[in-house]
Amino acid sequence: MALLIRNLAQVATPIGRTALRGRAMRDLRIHEHAVLVVDRGRIAYVGPERGNTIAISNDYDARGATAIPGFVDSHTHLPWAGYRESEFNRRLQGETYEEIAASGGGIASTVHTTRAASEEQLVANVIERARTMARHGTTSAEAKSGYGLNVADELKQLRAIARANETSPVRLVPTCLAAHEFPPEKRDASYVDEVISEILPAVAREQLTKYCDVFVERGVFSRDEGDRILRAGIALGFQPRLHADELSDTGAAALAVELHAASADHLMHVSDSGIAALAKSDTVANLLPGTSFFLMSQRYAPARALIDAGAIVSLSTDCNPGSSMTESMSMVMQLATLQMRMTVEESLTAATLNGAHSLGMANETGSIEPGKRADIALIDAPSYLHLVYHFGVNLVRAVMRDGEFIVS
Ligand code: NIG
Ligand code: FE
Repeated sequence: MALLIRNLAQVATPIGRTALRGRAMRDLRIHEHAVLVVDRGRIAYVGPERGNTIAISNDYDARGATAIPGFVDSHTHLPWAGYRESEFNRRLQGETYEEIAASGGGIASTVHTTRAASEEQLVANVIERARTMARHGTTSAEAKSGYGLNVADELKQLRAIARANETSPVRLVPTCLAAHEFPPEKRDASYVDEVISEILPAVAREQLTKYCDVFVERGVFSRDEGDRILRAGIALGFQPRLHADELSDTGAAALAVELHAASADHLMHVSDSGIAALAKSDTVANLLPGTSFFLMSQRYAPARALIDAGAIVSLSTDCNPGSSMTESMSMVMQLATLQMRMTVEESLTAATLNGAHSLGMANETGSIEPGKRADIALIDAPSYLHLVYHFGVNLVRAVMRDGEFIVS
């Protein structure tokens, strides 16, 4: 039954079954010339071949590849329909993301196309994006609703994630982001009431997700509205996640900490007091540098200050058609290091184990050690440093999830 993966240049992994912070984010365990043994979907052994005592029934020649944990992409907006390449082109001519949104584009245009799509179409879209993610080394991903903005279409998005998850190569974790924007037909506080009294209870009844999220932002949901929605979510059994301090400082990072949110995401404009609050908390600071890059902002989240203060930092793509059109976690690691000055080691920890922690899965995935799920990416490189050093190409050769090859 057991599979031996031999001829690895390196196995590089963060250590442990829970999130890492501060200096510990740099302490990768590097096994040179090691083998991996995978048995019944789990990692059974990692180390020198002579140390293995497990009976092998099959082997796989890694031909000098480096093994890393499959990426955990803990913030995406996967179940959408329709693209926004023309808005992207308008941004290249000088219009800003917020100007385009104010003129009826932005999230509202994806709401329009996603409402018009069938559940089947959304299932197909999610699976197609999950395949692209897998080809780039991702084995688990969060996926948010938030382009429905009414009961029926939010449920449609969340059911599509659940159905896609039955056959998706990537393990999917859904989040209800009904409070992503005000719907075009109801741009007032009555939508906040609809989220609280109709949408979240309907999602809870169908047990479609463990998490709920709010876009707390200037011109979108205020901190107080976010507070009301998330407390209502907590009362229904959801754990909060937050789009926090993305385009302006609204004090959302501190709100995330106060509500024991699983994560506070984006944080490009987080204040010093927000950094201090995150550093003392278990709320993961989830950074999405693809968004700064794609919105052509010079402003990246203060990753160094967050890590140095002791916050748990993770990295994600934010994969969505408006502000970060990518499935590639190695691209995100490249931006994290070259733009945010994280070390390669910190960014690998952030892209795997710490993301897993924010999804409640650090005990099961996000690092390569015996007993954990065999979620592994093999990269065509002599060391993990090539993930950043050799930028702009996809080095992923093969990917395994739960001990099965999803890319080979
Ligand atoms: O995470 N912040 C809000 N939501 C997305 C953008 C979604 C869109 O533009 O469609 C984000 O950046
Ligand atoms: Fe987002």
